[in-house]
Amino acid sequence: MPQVSIRRLKAAEEFRASERIQKHVWGSVGVSAEVLTVTAKHGGAVLGAFVGGSLAGFLYAFLARRHGKLIHWSHMMAVEGRFRDLGLGFRMKLAHRRLALAEGVRAICWTYDPLQSRNAYLNIRRLGGLVEEYIPNCYGQFPSLIEKGLASDRFVVEWAIASKRVVTRLGRRGARPLNPAWTAVNPTRKNRRGFLENQTLKLRERAPRLLVEIPADTDRMRAQALSLARRWRLEMRTTFRSYLRAGYRVTDFFPPSQPGGRCFYLLERVARDSVAYPG
Ligand SMILES: CC(C)(COP(=O)(O)OP(=O)(O)OC[C@H]1O[C@@H](n2cnc3c(N)ncnc32)[C@H](O)[C@@H]1OP(=O)(O)O)[C@@H](O)C(=O)NCCC(=O)NCCS
Repeated sequence: MPQVSIRRLKAAEEFRASERIQKHVWGSVGVSAEVLTVTAKHGGAVLGAFVGGSLAGFLYAFLARRHGKLIHWSHMMAVEGRFRDLGLGFRMKLAHRRLALAEGVRAICWTYDPLQSRNAYLNIRRLGGLVEEYIPNCYGQFPSLIEKGLASDRFVVEWAIASKRVVTRLGRRGARPLNPAWTAVNPTRKNRRGFLENQTLKLRERAPRLLVEIPADTDRMRAQALSLARRWRLEMRTTFRSYLRAGYRVTDFFPPSQPGGRCFYLLERVARDSVAYPG
């Protein structure tokens, strides 16, 4: 692969190039080059991932307040399709963490679609983010190519960038293997077309650790079996909201071990103050 570099965006044409990536990834521009320009100058982070000198991905975050503390809210990160799974997303998050810490910011938060397993793996397993909030239909009718036809439900990720938990995860340590004795609250089966579906939702389990399975490729399901994808959306909304309300947090994600394999979130009871905003 040509040389990769991650750095702050500065030039007007770089902000325009970020608009082009937004069009390719979501089908429209959600954050204009003008807003990127002022955010980069006056608080926040606008980073780019360059491959062989051209922009392959970008990250946009602004200064915000959450639970009374100053944080960075990372509203967007995208990598052009052909450059995915090469570690660019991970490297942009690491660069963002470094510059936020240097500015005295100790938490970065963002949202993502809980049914996107790539994002789940990156955000929860690799980066050590935690989820304690689920927002149904976060952006209302959202003209996004990614979730066309689905309500825009989102997890809120809290990334406590100064915490021991995050430092451990970034070093690829601290992640437990999946224990087959843990209860899956949504036993699944494959339907006749080969798509995963829930057999039932068990909402009253109270073991210290519980698993929630999600489809490994929701995009394909959405494109080929939209009504099933919509059912998943609503069933996961019910499941996660119910367990988050009962004091569970999403603490880990087990990715598919092979293409077409199964993947699971881990729910655990966690004392919020001990992990989300230490110090
Ligand atoms: C989310 C996104 C920015 C990640 O960028 P990326 O450069 O592909 O991310 P990385 O390569 O650093 O990490 C992806 C990881 O997911 C893994 N992965 C790929 N497919 C997967 C799947 N179906 N399930 C779980 N993990 C998967 C990759 O192997 C990689 O892990 P590795 O580095 O251990 O090999 C990119 O996928 C994207 O632009 N998505 C669309 C926009 C979006 O959802 N943005 C985020 C919300 S604003």
